Amino acid sequence: MEQRVEPARPWLGAAIALAIAAALLAALVLWQPTTLYLWLKALHVIAVIAWMAGMLYLPRLFVYHCEAEIGSKQSETFKIMERRLLRAIINPAMVVTWVLGLWLAWDAGLFRSGWLHAKLALVLAMSALHGMFVRYVRDFAEDRNRRSQRFYRIINEVPTLLMIGIVILVVVKPF
Ligand code: HEM
Repeated sequence: MEQRVEPARPWLGAAIALAIAAALLAALVLWQPTTLYLWLKALHVIAVIAWMAGMLYLPRLFVYHCEAEIGSKQSETFKIMERRLLRAIINPAMVVTWVLGLWLAWDAGLFRSGWLHAKLALVLAMSALHGMFVRYVRDFAEDRNRRSQRFYRIINEVPTLLMIGIVILVVVKPF
């Protein structure tokens, strides 16, 4: 069976995204607008959206990938989609979200706030889930996934629940 061989540039997408984010950050820090905090908060939310889009879509791909026969063209296509989504979007978006989130908390002196502690606990859970997804992508890539479609359907709901909790905590700040 004919299979596409991809160029070995696993970190290129992530490196480009991180370089663009770093350039934007450097420009803002040099420019020093009075609204720097709000600009960085906007960038934080943009990174959050990219991270969440990937975290919601990737487990959906796992659900469909379970149905594809090992070695089929469909299965190989899912492998490419999963790898690209992870490396080009999810990984760099998580790094930018963390860096800017911690900077915002430090700049606004929020590290003693209860809502931030709770938010950080949920974000750590989201990051752990991200780590699990990395392992699932590797298992599918090596054709040794043994988890069921039902498992992925259930895990698919977890990022949504965590995201709802995180957004309520940061917007409502209930404690
Ligand atoms: C990675 C660790 C994170 C840290 C340390 C962090 C911290 C922060 C801080 C300090 C703010 C500014 C709050 C304010 O100005 O009132 C903020 C804003 C925000 N964060 Fe995060 N955050 C993180 C991850 C996330 C994630 C994963 C999400 C969503 C799933 C998220 C969603 C938001 C939203 C929507 C805002 C804007 C809130 C508003 O302006 O009302 N953050 N974050």
